[in-house]
This record gives sequence, structure tokens and C-alpha cells, in this order.
Amino acid sequence: MDTPRIDLHRHLEAAVDPNDLPPFIQKHKIDLPSDLERLRALLRFTARPGNLAAFLEPFKQHIHKFFITEASVREFTKLCIRRAALEGLSYLELRFSPFYMAGAYAGTQRLDPESVVSAVCEGRDEAGSEHPVRVGLILIVGRELDIQKGQRVIDLALRYRSKICGVDLAGNEHGFPPHLFRDVFARAREAGVPITIHAGETGSAENIRYSVEELGATRIGHGIAAIHDASVVSLLKEREIVLETCPISNWLTGAVKGDPSNHPLMKLHRAGVKVTVNTDDPLLQSSWLADDIRQAEALGATPQDIASFMITAETAAFTDVLSISNA
Ligand code: ADE
Ligand code: ZN
Repeated sequence: MDTPRIDLHRHLEAAVDPNDLPPFIQKHKIDLPSDLERLRALLRFTARPGNLAAFLEPFKQHIHKFFITEASVREFTKLCIRRAALEGLSYLELRFSPFYMAGAYAGTQRLDPESVVSAVCEGRDEAGSEHPVRVGLILIVGRELDIQKGQRVIDLALRYRSKICGVDLAGNEHGFPPHLFRDVFARAREAGVPITIHAGETGSAENIRYSVEELGATRIGHGIAAIHDASVVSLLKEREIVLETCPISNWLTGAVKGDPSNHPLMKLHRAGVKVTVNTDDPLLQSSWLADDIRQAEALGATPQDIASFMITAETAAFTDVLSISNA
């Protein structure tokens, strides 16, 4: 059987191909330019943001405008899945923040977060019957939102348990350490919902340790700060925690300092940590999984290493592995 092509870490809100946006913007009367070049100028990094806050800025400024009705959410989801099918992915996990997409970060909540979840699930189910790629959905607890909203995301995860495959904590690690979310993730953990946490991206190795030991994460989003703490590397190895690294994003956010070749992917791999290669936010980065794989190769990964990362991803998928291989 061919090696599966898997992306475990891609944000739905930034998983659309810009070329698909002009007709979408016109059809749904979205308050963004429908001219491709003007749109690109707003959404695509032309210089390296260099820190996580600057990297996340387009989410604050523009991206929330895509989601104005349930129909727009459904169609956007389908566009993202169609793009993933064109990349030849066999399995993709799309993560999204129901509160962000509902407009909570923009100050005016346009949609009910539950209707966002149901529209994403419907879009996924409709696209699933048209394209060969299998898609798991992960609900995001936003770091910058209050804890009650975090609990409401877990309520949604439990209500939509048969449709979603896991939960995540995302947003800026700085100022929002994982211990603030202990009670939120305790409920997901008790209910057996798989947990991944953005940790050790631009934050500390200690955030990784806490996310594993106290929040119950079995996968870590990025996690590259582990390289600075041998005891965290040991913990990841002992518990077989999988890191979802995103080499291109990690350079753009300044998680990797200086030259892109400073990414610790291969050091972590050689130290025995389970690593995978993923995209993060293709729309903003102008890069797709093939680009991150090329970046991993530039870091020294051989075709055998890439195949082993994909097998790791298959094993770590929050959806039943057999259902991926049979896709
Ligand atoms: N949301 C979208 N991209 C993100 C990233 N790289 N880190 C944290 N939250 C995010
Ligand atoms: Zn991410």
C-alpha cells in the first residue's frame, strides 16, 4: 500500500485556496475584495511576521468575515476539503474555533457557535461523499476567550461527539498558559475525547509538560520548544506523545529563530520523539503540505523519514486508523 499522505494540523479558517475565494465572496456578499490580487494583498504574508501575535493578525482583521451565514460556513468547509483532495491527501484533520467563526472575536457575534459546528459537520459530510479524502474535525478552545466559552466548546464537543474527533487549545501562548484551562480540558479528558494542545510553539517547554501531564494531551501542536529541555524530550518519548510540527509556519511565527534551517525537526526525530509534518494556515502562508514536506527534506529528512512521519500521523490520527487506510 502507498504511504498515506496526512495533515493532522490545519486550521479550517485558513485552509482555503485564495483562487477559490472570489466567487465565494461574491456569492455570499462578504465584506472583502473579490479581486484576487487585492485579496491576496490582505491575506498573504509578504514579509515574515516573526512573532505569533503578528502571524495571527489576519485572523483578527479579515478572516472572520468569511463566516456570515451557515451556508457560507458549509460552502467554505467544502472548498477546503476539495483543495485537500487536490493535494492528494488521504486523511486530514481540520481544526476550527466555533466562537471565532461565529464572530465572537470581532465583537459582534453573528452566528450561534453551535450552528457553526453543525454547518462545518454538514459541509464535511457533503464533501466527503464527493472527494476521497477522509476528514476529522477538531474543536478549538480559544486561549483569548473567557473560560466559560471554553467550557461551551467542550459542551459542543460532547454534543457532537459522533461527528468530531478531538479538541484543541489554540491562540497566542503568551499570557495564556495551559494551567488556565485545566478545568476545561478535565471534562474532555473524563469523557474520553482526544486532546491536542498548541504548546511549546513560541512558548516554553514547560507548557508542553503541563499540557501532557495535567491537560491530558496525547498530541502537541508544534511542541518544538521541547528541544530546550531534555526532561521534556524524555517525557514525550516515554508517553509516545506525537508532535504536530509545521516547519513553514514555525519559521513565519518566529518559533524558529533566524534561519529556517534551525528548525529542530530532525534533532527531535533522532532523539526518538514521534514527529509529524503539517501545514497550519495554508492561506496565509501560501504553502501546502507538499511545501512543508519539501521544507522537512531541506532539514535533512530522507524519503524514508517522510514515510515514517506519515505512518506516525496515521497511528496518531484521532479518527479510527482503519477507516483511513480503507479510504
Ligand atoms: N491559530 C491559527 N494558527 C495558529 C498558530 N500557529 N498558533 C496558535 N493558534 C493558531
Ligand atoms: Zn495551529
